[in-house]
Amino acid sequence: MSLCGGACAVCYAVGAFFLLSLAVRVLKAVYAAYLRPAEDPKKYGAWAVVTGATDGIGLEYAKQLAAKGMNIVLISRTASKLADVKKEILAADKRDIEVKVIVEDMSGEPTEVYPRIAKQLEGLDIGVLVNNVGISYEHPEFFAALDQERIDALVRLNIVSINQMTRIVLPGMQQRKRGAIVNVSSGSGTLPTALLTAYSATKAYVDFFSRGLAVEVEKDGVFVQPHHATKCTIVQATGVRLQAYE
Ligand SMILES: NC(=O)c1ccc[n+]([C@@H]2O[C@H](COP(=O)([O-])OP(=O)(O)OC[C@H]3O[C@@H](n4cnc5c(N)ncnc54)[C@H](OP(=O)(O)O)[C@@H]3O)[C@@H](O)[C@H]2O)c1
Repeated sequence: MSLCGGACAVCYAVGAFFLLSLAVRVLKAVYAAYLRPAEDPKKYGAWAVVTGATDGIGLEYAKQLAAKGMNIVLISRTASKLADVKKEILAADKRDIEVKVIVEDMSGEPTEVYPRIAKQLEGLDIGVLVNNVGISYEHPEFFAALDQERIDALVRLNIVSINQMTRIVLPGMQQRKRGAIVNVSSGSGTLPTALLTAYSATKAYVDFFSRGLAVEVEKDGVFVQPHHATKCTIVQATGVRLQAYE
């Protein structure tokens, strides 16, 4: 074989390997997104806990998990909204599930908020935790123009809530050797986003936290995943919720 022939064969082999691995990745992603049968979340435990559960993505998680037969703990700020969601879920469900509500403003003082939540979750076989609660800006804004209150709330709702809820629920999951934790991040957590700088940074925390923790607790049978919500901005703007997450 000539020198050129040998070099060309190597190039073809490298190219073919690259294309093959790309095709495998695309096929795996398509399978995971559209073809893989859904898991039964009850295999992780009897209860699912959803934060920020009365609206948007959290509400949809709560409804879908209830529809799969899980008992649900709904956590958010407004008692009347929680009561309405509880009623709606129980009315829709045919499988005799339980729904518990916890009224908490999760932007409050963490040393007070989370012991109260922990107490109300005591003794439950929690299989799924959806750390969904989170806020962004009222509108895109320069970081320097944000008030300190908004920055503190971003950190408490988008980061502290995830740390604290995970610390409450994870030990039980590790003991039982089963559990799933989903942390709602954002597309802007995967790419620095000017004018949403602090929001984007909190969501990057959620992403890194989830991926690091996933490795730490895999051995305990606990599955951790970031959910990079992206479509919902368009969905909210157009009001077309059905297609994206209902
Ligand atoms: N929607 C999007 O376009 C989008 C895109 C990317 C990522 N995300 C992420 O997805 C998650 C959910 O967003 P969403 O737009 O679906 O939310 P949403 O529709 O605004 O709903 C927020 C939920 O959180 C609760 N909540 C708000 N502040 C709270 C507080 N201080 N303490 C306790 N509960 C509180 C609300 O209940 P009350 O009203 O009773 O407080 C409500 O149930 C967030 O983490 C967000 O960053 C959203």
